[in-house]
Amino acid sequence: MHFSMYSYLRKFLFYFNPERSHTIALQGLRFADKLGLLRLVTKPTAHPRTVMGLTFQHPVGLAAGLDKNADYVDALAALGFSFIEIGTVTPKPQTGNMPPRLFRLVEQEALINRMGFNNKGMEYVAHQLEKTRYRGILGINIGKNKDTPLEHAADDYRLGFRHLWKYASYITINISSPNTPGLRDLQEANALTALLATLKKEQGKIAEIHRYIPLVVKISPDLSHEALRTMATILLQQKIDGVIATNTTIQREGIEQSPVAHEAGGLSGRPLQARSTYVIKQLHPLLQNNIPIIASGGVIDKASIQEKLAAGASLVQVYTGLIYHGLEIMNDTSK
Ligand SMILES: Cc1cc2nc3c(=O)[nH]c(=O)nc-3n(C[C@H](O)[C@H](O)[C@H](O)COP(=O)(O)O)c2cc1C
Repeated sequence: MHFSMYSYLRKFLFYFNPERSHTIALQGLRFADKLGLLRLVTKPTAHPRTVMGLTFQHPVGLAAGLDKNADYVDALAALGFSFIEIGTVTPKPQTGNMPPRLFRLVEQEALINRMGFNNKGMEYVAHQLEKTRYRGILGINIGKNKDTPLEHAADDYRLGFRHLWKYASYITINISSPNTPGLRDLQEANALTALLATLKKEQGKIAEIHRYIPLVVKISPDLSHEALRTMATILLQQKIDGVIATNTTIQREGIEQSPVAHEAGGLSGRPLQARSTYVIKQLHPLLQNNIPIIASGGVIDKASIQEKLAAGASLVQVYTGLIYHGLEIMNDTSK
């Protein structure tokens, strides 16, 4: 879609509250797909690359959280992403936090969200994926239910993995959402080692009988350099297949002017870009080229895509950039 066209659509969508316009946009997209209209969308030029043993047509994929329940995979695929990540999916359905829980910061090209893993649960998602036509690269992002105590978190991730691996090109272990109390404590050394060891064991069992499903860990941008160093050591020890850097931040730097800056939740979009790239720059040498990095956080235009790749990322994911700029972001992925 041409930018000027999207700017009209954006005006219409921004008339509604953010969560409502999210649903309107996705339902509209699915309708357009059913009518065959999405065939008219110009697809990015192919620049294939192999990452985690998978061949991606170009570097730009869709980040988790836009399609939590795999309700819109075929329509989203028609937009030309080289991969799509659905979720976060938890074992049981849950409603998430009370609305309002999603806020636009238009001037800053940012969002604050405290959705809290609202999703329909793994059974529903498996059912949706049975019906999906898409055969491209699909990441499935898994998490734990809010009411599962932290010491039993590994059981929830194992359940998600067991239930959903057969639909997945890779599985993302989300331990970095700021909106599930205690979740980010799973990034601490002992908890992380135990969780990843459990999932690697599960991965091994599935690989023996079926196929190898790459495991990817999604991390927070709010980790100190020391914490990142420990994280890198554990990821290498556990032979994790990829890292997504990063999730949303709880910092509020650069958005002090916004009337919603005080809202609790994770900040995404342009104000996250620099911090998230800085994390990639620190992580890249620590991972010694053994674990590929997928960039997420402030991928908002061509320049930010190039910045992420130059910092050491192999692929990038978009979310907030799509809300503000539409498909313009993907027009030139010539890297
Ligand atoms: C409304 C919303 C919901 C999100 N839900 C999830 C989620 O369920 N799981 C997850 O791993 N990340 C989730 N994210 C984080 C995004 O996947 C992404 O990592 C983050 O927004 C930073 O990228 P961006 O600046 O391009 O948006 C969500 C982000 C937003 C804005």
